[in-house]
Amino acid sequence: MSRVQILTLPQIGDVSIVCKTKRDISVETPLDKRDDESLGWGYWDRIWPSSVAFAEYLIHQFFPSKLAGTKVLEIGCGTGVPGVVAAQLGAFTMFSDMVPVTLEAVKETCGLNQITNFDTCTLDWSGKIQSNERYDVVLGCEVFYDEAILADISQVLEQVLAPGGKGLFCDPNRLGLDTIELAFQERFHISIEQIPLNWHPRKGNEAGKMVYLYELTRRGQSTS
Ligand SMILES: C[S@@+](CC[C@H](N)C(=O)[O-])C[C@H]1O[C@@H](n2cnc3c(N)ncnc32)[C@H](O)[C@@H]1O
Repeated sequence: MSRVQILTLPQIGDVSIVCKTKRDISVETPLDKRDDESLGWGYWDRIWPSSVAFAEYLIHQFFPSKLAGTKVLEIGCGTGVPGVVAAQLGAFTMFSDMVPVTLEAVKETCGLNQITNFDTCTLDWSGKIQSNERYDVVLGCEVFYDEAILADISQVLEQVLAPGGKGLFCDPNRLGLDTIELAFQERFHISIEQIPLNWHPRKGNEAGKMVYLYELTRRGQSTS
């Protein structure tokens, strides 16, 4: 069943994060939908170490309130750590995932951290996006894990980024940098840097390692 994990972040301090499990999927969920949530996509039930590195990067870049007044969309949010931190840095965060129970977890997380500047929506990268909403920043953590989905994510970015907006993504480079560049370079400028991984659920396991931070801006627009 669901549990709460406490992350201690620089400048911000303790943040409570709700992690749900397959057992938390509502019995109201129709059986065919429940399969989507409980079978292949069980990666939303934990805090991924890169999401903490990503949160620390956001704090480093935007503390205390450089995101104030901006609209941020997190895609494939899972437990939503970067989106939560973006909201704490002043953004209005829209959390999205294809798995509805993740959004229930995020709502509880926001409640525990007194965050009210947020909303949630189901968003499947491979489907059609219904909303005309545009975002200044799109966040995605641990979503570059299968080459086949990169084109979908590129399409989502193309559609939802406001003029002058940027996509920020973080992962341990599961697919190789060439693969990422190839997938996005036609539509986006990509800058890639390594950032430190300071947190792991099993202490000491990953500390000292680095993960990758990708910044994507539309081609044909000036970079800030
Ligand atoms: C590896 S988990 C990462 C979760 C979270 N971003 C983090 O770093 O903790 C991948 C996430 O992407 C979501 N996901 C997978 N395929 C998706 C799709 N087609 N559309 C939207 N979300 C998807 C999963 O439900 C899961 O929450």
